[in-house]
Amino acid sequence: MSKKDSLPPAKKKQPFKRKSTQTAESQIDDEKWINEIIPKHQPKKEIKKSKEDISDLSVSSISGIGPAVAEKLMSTGYITVLAVAHASPLELVENCEIGEQTAKRIISAARLQVGIGFQSAKEILKERETLIKISTGSKALNTLLAGGVESNSLTEFSGEFRTGKTQICFQLCVMTAMDKKYGGLESGVIYVDTEGTFRPERIVQMCDRFGAPSEEVLNRIHVGRAYNSDHQMVLVLESPKLIREKNVKLLVIDSLTSHFRAEFTGRGALLERQQKLNRFLHQLLRLADVYDIAVVATNQVLAKPDVLYGESIFPIGGNIVAHSCTTRIYLRKGKADKRIARVIDSPHIPETEAVFIISPEGILDIEDL
Ligand SMILES: Nc1ncnc2c1ncn2[C@@H]1O[C@H](COP(=O)(O)OP(=O)(O)OP(=O)(O)O)[C@@H](O)[C@H]1O
Ligand SMILES: [Mg+2]
Repeated sequence: MSKKDSLPPAKKKQPFKRKSTQTAESQIDDEKWINEIIPKHQPKKEIKKSKEDISDLSVSSISGIGPAVAEKLMSTGYITVLAVAHASPLELVENCEIGEQTAKRIISAARLQVGIGFQSAKEILKERETLIKISTGSKALNTLLAGGVESNSLTEFSGEFRTGKTQICFQLCVMTAMDKKYGGLESGVIYVDTEGTFRPERIVQMCDRFGAPSEEVLNRIHVGRAYNSDHQMVLVLESPKLIREKNVKLLVIDSLTSHFRAEFTGRGALLERQQKLNRFLHQLLRLADVYDIAVVATNQVLAKPDVLYGESIFPIGGNIVAHSCTTRIYLRKGKADKRIARVIDSPHIPETEAVFIISPEGILDIEDL
C-alpha cells in the first residue's frame, strides 16, 4: 500500500487586508443610510466584489459601525463583514443584543460593502475551481465524491450504527490536519462530539499509515464535547474565532441529530425540534460559505416499517435536513469490514456507489488489503 495519498494539494486563497474605516453610529432611516451615508464613507474603489477579496474583511471595517457594536458582533462570532452580510436582522438582535434598526443598518452596509448580488456563471466556475477537496482515505470514495469532501458545503454521512460514519470523520480529520508532505492539508479541524465517541487513539493509528508524526495532527484538531442541543449550537456559534485563528478547513458534527432527537420527544415537540434543527443547519451552512470550510455532519437513520414500496430507511431530520445538506451519502454494511457508500443527493455528482474498508489503519480501498 502506498504511504502517501495521491490527491493533489489544495489551492490556497490569498486573504485581502484593508484598513478599518470607523465612524460614529447615527440614527437615520435605512434608505438614507444606504443611498447617502454609505457611499460617502465607502469609496467605490474599496467595494470588493470578489469573494477572495472580501473573505478576510473585519466587521470593524463596516461603514458607520461603532466600536461597541463591532465588539458585540465579534464576541458573538460575527467576525467578518461577510458573516454580517449573510445574517438576518432577527438573528443579530437575538445573538448580539443589539436593536433591530441597528441590525438592519449594519447588515445593509455589510451587504453593500461585499457587493452581494448577481455573479456570472464564469465567476462561479472560477470560484469553484479554488475549492478544497478533502480526501476520505479511499480512492473509490474520493471518486464517488468527485475528488473528496468539498469545502464551502455541508456533507452528510448517514447510516445505521457501525456503518463507519465516525471512522470517516476521523479519517477526514487526519487528512486535513496532517502536514502537506504526508498528503494532508496542514490545516485546523473543529470536531463537535455529541456522543462522546471521539477517540484520539484512532487518529494516532491513522497517522501511522502515512508515516506521519501524530503529535502535530492531534494539536490541530480542536474537540468540543457537546452535552445537549443548546451546547452544540453554542459551540458552533463560537467557532468563527477558532476557524480564523487556527486556519480551520474542516468542521465535523458527529452527530447532527442525536441531541435533538433525545430532547424533543413525541409529536407535540416535533415542530419545535425541526425549527431548532433548521436554525442549527443554517448556522452550519453559513460557516461553510463565509469561512470557506468543509462542514461534515453524521446522521443516524430511522426505519419506517409501514413503507411497502421503495426505501424504508431514512436519515433523521426529514425535509429540513434533506434540503440543507449539499451532498448526502448513505452508508450500509457489506460483508466483513466492507462498507458501501451511496450518493443519495448532490447538485453535481451522480447517484452511484463505492465500496470501502474500515481497517485499523483507517478508511481504505479493497485493493489496499
Ligand atoms: N481500530 C479499529 N480497527 C478496525 N476497525 C475498527 C477500529 N475501530 C473501529 N472499527 C470499526 O468501525 C466500525 C464502527 O464504525 P463507526 O464508529 O464509524 O460507526 P458509526 O457509523 O459512527 O456508528 P454509530 O451510529 O453507532 O455512531 C465497527 O465495525 C468497528 O469494528
Ligand atoms: Mg458514530
